[in-house]
Amino acid sequence: MLDLSSYRADFPVLDQDVNGKPLVYFDNGATTQKPRQVIEAITRYYEHDNSNVHRGTHTLSTRATDAFEAARQRTATYLNAASSDEIIFTGGTTDGINLVAQTWGRANIQAGDKIMLTEMEHHSNLVPWQILAEATGATLDYLKVEEKAGQLDLTNLAERLADGVKLLAFVHISNTLGTVNPAAEMCAIAQKAGVTTLVDGAQSIGHQPVDVQTLGCDFYAAGAHKMAGPTGFGVLYGRKELLDAMPPWRGGGEMIKTVTYEHSTWNSLPYKFEAGTPDIAGAIGFGAAMDYLDAVGRDKIQQHDQEMGAYAAEQLGAIPGMRLLGPPVGQPRAGLVAFAHETVHSEDICTLADEAGIALRGGHHCTMPMHDKFGISASARASFYLYNTPEEVDRLVKTLTRLIKLLG
Ligand code: ALA
Repeated sequence: MLDLSSYRADFPVLDQDVNGKPLVYFDNGATTQKPRQVIEAITRYYEHDNSNVHRGTHTLSTRATDAFEAARQRTATYLNAASSDEIIFTGGTTDGINLVAQTWGRANIQAGDKIMLTEMEHHSNLVPWQILAEATGATLDYLKVEEKAGQLDLTNLAERLADGVKLLAFVHISNTLGTVNPAAEMCAIAQKAGVTTLVDGAQSIGHQPVDVQTLGCDFYAAGAHKMAGPTGFGVLYGRKELLDAMPPWRGGGEMIKTVTYEHSTWNSLPYKFEAGTPDIAGAIGFGAAMDYLDAVGRDKIQQHDQEMGAYAAEQLGAIPGMRLLGPPVGQPRAGLVAFAHETVHSEDICTLADEAGIALRGGHHCTMPMHDKFGISASARASFYLYNTPEEVDRLVKTLTRLIKLLG
């Protein structure tokens, strides 16, 4: 397995005992830890350059503006967007998807139209479309998940899309199944059918190379905090011609060109969608996170995380009574494994793992409908990042085996 453990030392939070045991942090699907390089970039900004952007004419404001716009340019390069005008800074994945729903959606979706989602969406890429559908009279259609394979059923996708679908919005990597969806293939089929696409990149942006032009998507929404960056910050990539045609969403400073008492006109891209003082430190931290991940190598992170996922699936799947969600052992999966035991509740698993210093996530992982579909109320999840090691998986498996013997 590709060993990236030398990078562990960059993450100060990992160097601690929890409940008397060295911390094993396996909740990276919820948020990843931050390397010193990101923490220091944010601190440096606040200690030396803190000022508002795009407004002042003084030195600090110029420095803050330059750093903020450099982060935008960095994001365009990181995602291979054609232009930095296509990079809208947001509050995260959820915020970006809501922006598309409330601007592109309200302008383009009408009563009788269909919005196609998948059964594996997390709430961020589900609830905004439910709100839009209720407001417009559109209906939601779902691509089914085949539980055993952990894959989407894409049979007749072109025909289904041709039947009144205006938007196909789907997750790139499922936060619960670990399934990596064939995003480029799905976008190509949608494009042929004249259907707009949105890819939810929450779990992919920091775990593999992402090239929005190769994906061929119209929108790609993601957050910084699941990729070694700060919380409360994210990016929405949108194709320029779509963004240009979209009305603004939030009103306020920055997003306007002219304002009178009667009405306003809108700023050019990307500022039209960035009302108010932005999260400048967030952008700088995001830029530092992208630099960090590229220095490690996103292809290496992808290999490592997938190998961790495969190893964990194999080890956890061998525990008697354990049911794994997502692709079967031996099939490709991203670096996460959600699991449910036939007798020990996932909440007990998580609580007792925490007592052993191991951080898991328990519950429905914001995919309540899919848990309902699978007939389970909750699962536990171990999700990995570049600093995790197979030895940590062994510790989890040993701990769980002991607990299940005790409680099962
Ligand atoms: N969707 C996030 C997770 O998977 C919050 O934990």
